[in-house]
Amino acid sequence: MANTHNIVWHQHMVDRQLRESHNGHKGAVLWFTGLSGSGKSTLAGAIEHQLASMGSKTYLLDGDNIRHGLCRDLGFSEADRQENIRRVGEVAKLMVDAGLIVATAFISPFQSDRQKVRELFSPNQFFELYVDTPVSVCEQRDPKGLYQQAREGKIKQFTGIDSPYEAPLNPDLHLDGQQPISDSLSQIIALLLRHHIIQIDY
Ligand code: ADX
Repeated sequence: MANTHNIVWHQHMVDRQLRESHNGHKGAVLWFTGLSGSGKSTLAGAIEHQLASMGSKTYLLDGDNIRHGLCRDLGFSEADRQENIRRVGEVAKLMVDAGLIVATAFISPFQSDRQKVRELFSPNQFFELYVDTPVSVCEQRDPKGLYQQAREGKIKQFTGIDSPYEAPLNPDLHLDGQQPISDSLSQIIALLLRHHIIQIDY
């Protein structure tokens, strides 16, 4: 467990508010959750591209990429997924403090883990975006061939096959994973405008 005994938080001179005012927008997390193959990474990449081309300071944290580095020691047991999401939540928190709009693309299958991440942020900083694509569609897409391997028993504890996915009950945005990407992007931009993360003259 964390030991914060004898460790005192230091308030530095340059803070989030100053960074945000330089950036011209607020810091926030767009937390995409959904099955493997649901379209999380594609949407996270597309919204980051749109925001970056409008001049926003952004970063994309992608499950497959983060598991090559920061989380390379973790597998897909419940405990390892929990630790994966905890670390990503803390990294996203640093990035929001840096004033960035962070898009994250992790299956993040457990409600309690997503809730813990939400609690790291103030209400206007964390947005849970559920990319709702049925497992049958994800399995048909199977971009990495992993569903087939899971069906053949070559991959164990695969989300949607033999490991659970707890769909968000009350996401900030419920995205239809089969609608055109441009429709999802419009919904996400509207969410950011509604919460004053970005300005109307964007
Ligand atoms: S999470 O459950 O801990 O949030 P994360 O998003 O980081 O998962 O990684 C999921 C990606 O790892 C999937 O898109 C897939 O490419 C790959 N993967 C490999 N094994 C598994 C598995 N057993 N379950 C789910 N995804 C897996």
